[in-house]
Amino acid sequence: MRRPILIASLLLAVLFGCTPKAELPVYLDENKALDERVSDALSRMTTEEKIAIIHAQSKFSSPGVPRLGIPELWTTDGPHGIRPEVLWDEWNQAGWTNDSIIAFPALTCLAASWNPEMSALYGKSIGEEARYREKDVLLGPGVNIARTPLNGRNFEYMGEDPYLAGEMVVPYIKEVQANGVATCVKHYCLNNEETHRHSVDINLDDRALYEIYLPAFKKAVQEGGSWSIMASYNLYQGQHVCHNDRLLNQILKGEWGFDGAVITDWGGCHDTDEAIHNGLDLEFGTWTNGLTMGATNAYDNYFLALPYLQKIRSGEVGTEELDQKAARVLKLIMRTAMNGNKPLGNKCSEAHYAAARRIADEGIVLLRNENGNLPVKADAKKILVVGENAVKMMTVGGGSSSLKVQKEISPLDGIRARAAQNGAEVVYVRGYVGDVTGSYNGVVTGQDLNDERSAEELIAEAVEAAAQADQVIFVGGLNKAKHQDCEGKDRKELGLPYGQDAVIEALAEANPALSVVLVSGNPVAMPWIENVASVVEAWYIGSEAGEAIADVLFGDVNPSGKLPFTFPLALADSPAHQEGMAFPNNGETYYEEGILVGYRWFDTKQIPVLFPFGHGLSYTTFEYSDAKLNSSLVKGATSITLKVSVKNTGDRAGAEVVQLYIKDNESSVLRPEKELKGFQKVYLEPGQSKTVSFRISKEALQYFDADAHEWKAEDGEFEALVGASAGDIRSSVSFKYHN
Ligand code: BGC
Repeated sequence: MRRPILIASLLLAVLFGCTPKAELPVYLDENKALDERVSDALSRMTTEEKIAIIHAQSKFSSPGVPRLGIPELWTTDGPHGIRPEVLWDEWNQAGWTNDSIIAFPALTCLAASWNPEMSALYGKSIGEEARYREKDVLLGPGVNIARTPLNGRNFEYMGEDPYLAGEMVVPYIKEVQANGVATCVKHYCLNNEETHRHSVDINLDDRALYEIYLPAFKKAVQEGGSWSIMASYNLYQGQHVCHNDRLLNQILKGEWGFDGAVITDWGGCHDTDEAIHNGLDLEFGTWTNGLTMGATNAYDNYFLALPYLQKIRSGEVGTEELDQKAARVLKLIMRTAMNGNKPLGNKCSEAHYAAARRIADEGIVLLRNENGNLPVKADAKKILVVGENAVKMMTVGGGSSSLKVQKEISPLDGIRARAAQNGAEVVYVRGYVGDVTGSYNGVVTGQDLNDERSAEELIAEAVEAAAQADQVIFVGGLNKAKHQDCEGKDRKELGLPYGQDAVIEALAEANPALSVVLVSGNPVAMPWIENVASVVEAWYIGSEAGEAIADVLFGDVNPSGKLPFTFPLALADSPAHQEGMAFPNNGETYYEEGILVGYRWFDTKQIPVLFPFGHGLSYTTFEYSDAKLNSSLVKGATSITLKVSVKNTGDRAGAEVVQLYIKDNESSVLRPEKELKGFQKVYLEPGQSKTVSFRISKEALQYFDADAHEWKAEDGEFEALVGASAGDIRSSVSFKYHN
């Protein structure tokens, strides 16, 4: 007998004096349809009980219906690991000693793997950890589009392209939910800046909304089947998204048929009437009427608590909306907390650490590699490592994704351990001092990173050491401090902070065998690029950081990651930073660039970039054949097939991400120069070839016609472009579309 059924039977015995063999009430019978169970539970609940389940009872939980044995619903951040336990009413630590966890790579790194199998592995692993920690809702993953490289939270998202983010988010969701843990995909939507995230009011044309900012959420809902979604803090068309009629009622629940629960971002609800009518289901994190965090009756003052109940009691509003909200929350509880078939989960297992490392190995991007500088030579006997990010713990900080890890291997430790296998000595010098703090909501790194020496002294030390080294590895970039990669704040500049450019220039002059490893969740400017032999984008990798970085630097893993966003040459080149446009924004804001986000902008406007979207090198080389189509006409709903063969022409095994872009050659409306419509990662032994095929159908050719409110493909000529990045098209072939 399954555990919940047994418990239910016993409960019945107590409640109704029946024997355990008596028939189960419908809401507890997992053989019955979900909607039937929900209606049955609803029919047994009082108005007060319905009100209770649609708002929080603590920082991260809502109460369930204790009288009916319906359990509490426990949420947790997300998205890179399971957050440590906090006190009931506070953000600070509960002080548990059994909640240390694995930090998986940040979602930018996952997206950079361009491998949906890695997404599935990620979802499975983090889902099992959430399940083991008895969480019902994982607050993630995030698929906000990287509109600007200054957004402090880009590291939590999956890049600038809706197709890539959409393809990558679906397997993550499915695998998390296979554990009886709901994903809560965030932050729906248009949460593209942090500074004024509670008050910025986004306005944009419908083409941009439907073509750029919504597709990944739509896939998360319709293909991933996410059981919940987190509404974002910002406003859209003058109304907070947490109770935005258009985004929640009309689009999410209406057009997409979302059957899960809409959960507020923490403190995102601002109005009882709007919350009642505009599609919100579950309220968390509100700071009401000055009853700030921790006031004992704060939860009763939530917008969907007593204020709502009073409106029902006075007859001002009916109970139809309440029933709908309670039904969605009950469904969420039945899918998760009351799910009698869910696996047990596990945490911090060897398999999960291995998964974290594998995902990182696939997501690290080799941006530049001149003269075979990397991998590190086996006969390099003296390796110099420079830079704060070689030693700084990156899992603490950055906002709600901050973690309390069981282990975090620093880049320096990873490099040292691997170099020892070659009998090489590793020397470390600091190079620069950046952020020496190391705590978040009571979790402390315990590292003392203080160094009182001047920038000149640190550079002089680094230069002297570099002159004596066989190879030099600088590990820098950004970090999780405010105005770097951090929630609630945005970056202030594209350039590297803390004077790192000067350190890199000096090192490059002292030793040409220099590799720059960037730890960041965003693009950075690289004024020194021509002087540096190798550049690696290593993202925030979490627990296995050092090991994965060493895997790639020493060539044990052949890099295969590709950029999920463009690295611009200068901030002013970026679409959100054109002349006359401000960032960050507050109040009413218009997205002037419309659909031209990321590479769509740079390509269409022919603006040169530092590294294009989709770029990433390998230690081997790949040759593409000419792309061939099986027909040159896509007719109506039919599709055609494109085939291209890719050969590994180097001497080591490696993987290439073959990318398919579509260009509309004849169009009556503005179309981007090209748009990603397919990708496949292929593993090839030296000399091996594989044929990759893509189906091209009408869906890949469409734009959103805002006036007609429908997707349209126009008759005429299109081009299929196949390449290794948006800036490296290897083959193109044209075809026609006819309705
Ligand atoms: C963040 C969410 C997070 C929530 C709970 C908010 O401030 O925006 O992403 O899930 O807090 O920690």
